[in-house]
Amino acid sequence: MNATDPNKQLLLEEYKLGELTLKNRVVMASLTRARANNPELIPTPLMAEYYAQRASAGLILAEGTWVNAQSIGFINVPGIYTVEQVEGWKLVTSAVHEKGGLIFSQLGHIGGASHPELLNGELPVGPSAIDLQTQSFTPDGFKASPVPRAMSLAEIKQTIRDYKQAARHARDAGFDGVEIHAQAGMLIPQFLSIAANRRTDDYGGSIEKRARIVFDILNSIMEVWDSKRVAIKFTPVMLSHVGIVKPDEETIPLFKYILDRLNDYDLAYVHIVGPSEDLSGSPVAALQEDYFAHFQAHYTGRIMANLGFSKTTANEILQKGTADLVSFGEPFIANPDLVERFKHDLPLATADRSTYYGGGEQGYTTYPKTVYPDGRG
Ligand SMILES: Cc1cc2nc3c(=O)[nH]c(=O)nc-3n(C[C@H](O)[C@H](O)[C@H](O)COP(=O)(O)O)c2cc1C
Repeated sequence: MNATDPNKQLLLEEYKLGELTLKNRVVMASLTRARANNPELIPTPLMAEYYAQRASAGLILAEGTWVNAQSIGFINVPGIYTVEQVEGWKLVTSAVHEKGGLIFSQLGHIGGASHPELLNGELPVGPSAIDLQTQSFTPDGFKASPVPRAMSLAEIKQTIRDYKQAARHARDAGFDGVEIHAQAGMLIPQFLSIAANRRTDDYGGSIEKRARIVFDILNSIMEVWDSKRVAIKFTPVMLSHVGIVKPDEETIPLFKYILDRLNDYDLAYVHIVGPSEDLSGSPVAALQEDYFAHFQAHYTGRIMANLGFSKTTANEILQKGTADLVSFGEPFIANPDLVERFKHDLPLATADRSTYYGGGEQGYTTYPKTVYPDGRG
């Protein structure tokens, strides 16, 4: 990379992702913004405008989206399990495509970290009836999640089918691919966790059994999407996560096992969130040094790196080759034109945190593009 010529940044170079051509390697990470403020959780025209504003990203990952009614865990977050929701998403995908962008749907299930007020009075479901010691954002604000109900084997199988239906819906809605949301706080990491999963059947116990749900979900989604359009996002080291789903002494061998097996899947990419704090003294301290290289040692496919990247550090990791793509979350909130700002080496605007979750257009579609040195606005 030639540091004096910002146009030579690897981050801004075109990138082939299977059949898709990304205009650049700047990916917009999924951001829950809770603007689907209707009881049916249908994406709105305002959401279409918001995503279209950010279409200069090489790839947009849409916000975490519910795969079924039981998976809801936050107010005003859209779903993709009804035909009406699919119609709403069509507005979003066509608005992004019209601007020359690409967009994946992020398929999620919050598992036990929900609340009856979001589930028509029903208890949330998780791998085991264990208090996750977490909170849920209900219509009346944050409330402690109750002890969930353990899923029956039949419910696990149904949930896997629901992921497949959601993936098919994503295709019908015009998305370019899907990313499975397996960040801390969601159903999948609850299954992966020793603390949250005490099952004694095929979905609990050994690393292989706890990880089984990942492969069952992937296999079902690949019945409707080519594997090259399917991805998964993990947070292996989220020490600060509220509640009991945290890195443990089996996290490192667990991810080694998962990544080894994912080598057979030819996915679009594996999205890995980096550490947000010092890992020393934790069960994942061994990952501290050259974090992403540890995953690359086991995974031969593409790695998308995330958390706290700047233009400089993103170019550095691409140059080093320990990641193939870099995603940016918060920077996209106040900088719809993040790519252009990187290109012209312009300062980034700071977002107003009070409008992150919920509300209307203020702090959502109201962030202006910058004025570029060549006078374009
Ligand atoms: C407001 C907000 C909402 C988020 N919603 C999601 C989400 O729906 N799905 C997801 O995988 N990550 C979500 N994240 C995490 C981001 O995708 C990303 O991993 C995180 O912000 C770190 O990247 P950054 O340092 O570039 O912001 C969210 C983050 C923020 C700040």
